[in-house]
Amino acid sequence: MEPTISPSILNCDIGDLRGQLELIRSADIAHVDVMDNHFVPNLSWGLPVVESVVNSAVLPVDAHLMIEDPDRWAPGYAEVGCHSVTFHVEAATAPVRLARELHRLGSKVGLALRPATDITPFVDILCEFDMILVMTVEPGFGGQSFIESMIPKIRRTREAIRTADLPVSIQVDGGVSRATIEMAAEAGADNFVAGSAVFKAEDAASEIDLLRSLAAAHCHAH
Ligand code: DX5
Ligand code: ZN
Repeated sequence: MEPTISPSILNCDIGDLRGQLELIRSADIAHVDVMDNHFVPNLSWGLPVVESVVNSAVLPVDAHLMIEDPDRWAPGYAEVGCHSVTFHVEAATAPVRLARELHRLGSKVGLALRPATDITPFVDILCEFDMILVMTVEPGFGGQSFIESMIPKIRRTREAIRTADLPVSIQVDGGVSRATIEMAAEAGADNFVAGSAVFKAEDAASEIDLLRSLAAAHCHAH
C-alpha cells in the first residue's frame, strides 16, 4: 500500500490560499478542516472557502468536517466536488444513510473517531466507508502533540479491515510529523494528515517527501 500525504491547510496563510496550495503541490491531497464552534471549540470556515480550494484545482480536496449535524451539511461538500468527505461518527445521526448519500453524490467517504471513540461498534459497517480517520489529537486545533495511546486503535482498525478484506484506508490526523509518522504507519495507517509539520518546515516540498519516505517502508508491509 502506498502512503498518502495530506497537508492540512488549517494554519496556513489563508490570505494567499493559492500560493499556499502551490507550496504543497507535491502532496497527494489537501486536507481542509471545517469547524463550527459546536462540535469543537474553534471556528474555521465553511462551504464557500472549501469550494474555492476545490476550484483552485491544485490538488484534490479531503474535507474533514468537525461539525454538528453532518447529516444536514456534509452532502454540500460532495456537491462542490470534494474528493473525500469525512464526518465524525459522534455527530452523525445516520452514518450509513449519510455515507450512501455522499457516495451517490460522487465523493469518497471517511468516518472519523475522536480519541475516546472506539472502532469496535463500527466494525460491521466498515464496508460503507473508504477511509477511517483515527484522530491522534482531540480535534479542534493544529499544533498539538500526537496521542501515542491511539496506536492500539490504529492496529485494531487495520486488523478489522484486513479480516473483512476491504479496501479501506486508515487516516491519522493530529501531531503527525517526522517523529511520529513511522509509529502510525507501522500500526497500520496509510493516509497521513500533517499541518504544522509541513507548513512550519523550511521547505514544505522536501518535508512532504521525507514524510512519504518515512511512511513508505511500513506501509508496504501492510
Ligand atoms: C485538528 C485538525 C487537524 C490539524 C492538524 O483538529 O483536524 O487536521 O490541522 O494539525 P497538526 O498536524 O499541526 O497537528
Ligand atoms: Zn483534520
